[in-house]
Amino acid sequence: MTSPQSVQSVQLPLAEYLALPAQDLSARTAEAKRALGDRVMVLGHNYQRDEVIQHADFRGDSLLLAKLAAERSERSYVVFCGVHFMAETADILSRSNQTVILPDLAAGCSMADMAAIEQVDQCWESLGRVLPVEETVTPAVYVNSAAVLKAFCGEHGGITCTSSNARAVMEWAWARREKILFFPDEHLGRNTANKMGFPRDQMLVWDPYLPNGGHTAEAIRKARLLLWKGHCSVHQMFQPAHVEYFRKRYPGVRVIVHPECHEEVVNRADLVGSTEFIIRTVSQAPAGTAWAVGTELNLVNRLKRDQADKQIFFLSSTVCQCATMFRIDAPHLCWAMENLAEGHVVNHIVVPDDEKAWAKIALDRMMAVS
Ligand code: 13P
Ligand code: SF4
Repeated sequence: MTSPQSVQSVQLPLAEYLALPAQDLSARTAEAKRALGDRVMVLGHNYQRDEVIQHADFRGDSLLLAKLAAERSERSYVVFCGVHFMAETADILSRSNQTVILPDLAAGCSMADMAAIEQVDQCWESLGRVLPVEETVTPAVYVNSAAVLKAFCGEHGGITCTSSNARAVMEWAWARREKILFFPDEHLGRNTANKMGFPRDQMLVWDPYLPNGGHTAEAIRKARLLLWKGHCSVHQMFQPAHVEYFRKRYPGVRVIVHPECHEEVVNRADLVGSTEFIIRTVSQAPAGTAWAVGTELNLVNRLKRDQADKQIFFLSSTVCQCATMFRIDAPHLCWAMENLAEGHVVNHIVVPDDEKAWAKIALDRMMAVS
């Protein structure tokens, strides 16, 4: 075993891992992890597939994993089994001597891609033409976003949020300034505001492809919640008809969904919350209860298997899998871990220092209200 910091080794090629049998990949990943010992921490998001999540030291939702990255400063290497924005968040929150690795750099998030910094800058400028934007608007960005957008929020008195603390974050934001610009997920923003009893006529949807977001100056001045037109391609698959189907077919079924779902689904559900909330709620429910779950398929399939004393259904009739989370597979994880054990860091996630400083301010504000 060599030290990843001290040796310039030749990287083991990914191609050799792609054809390996599942059993070999699992055994070799476990062996590399054992060899790395306490120097490595493997974090796994709740949507990860079984073959990957089995190697995670910790699994959880975005907030929990971000907290772990911030707290476990003794681990030199964080292998993040999740998507790009999560690994960036881990890099921002971890210490400078820690290294964050994403086993496949193609593991992005289609929602995060719906807001580019140029569009957000343009939006801010447009708002600045109709009101004193710095004094009246708090930018609040869902962590499902690039680090540069978190930095934008840090720099402009704003904050980040996750699906578990969006309400507390909105309360924080409205206590400071009269309006919130919430991006990139319109649904999390709207669903959270709905639960707070926030008036509909004070919300508007900002379309980044239209001048002034598609609104008159008067409408912008009147609104107190500006929702960026963005969504999750996985959660938009759940429809009100799915809820109605399960209620009719299984009387007494409890419907639990993620707040990235459309409000018509959320409003029909019994419970709404983060991936961790969903897992905890269903796991703690009495045996014999029935649940229809509206979030990503890997999570639901694992719940079904782990909670065999309950009836658990996937809320949609079509397969809704997060294709980008799915990029992290056994070959990529084994490749990243064996390279690390051989002294080679692959797919190092590095947020530039200037972005990191502002992004950390926005994340720290969130941690303080969570
Ligand atoms: P959680 O923070 O609830 O795990 O959600 C992350 C996510 O990307 C859901 O699509
Ligand atoms: Fe992004 Fe949706 Fe995948 Fe979550 S489920 S990582 S929001 S694409």
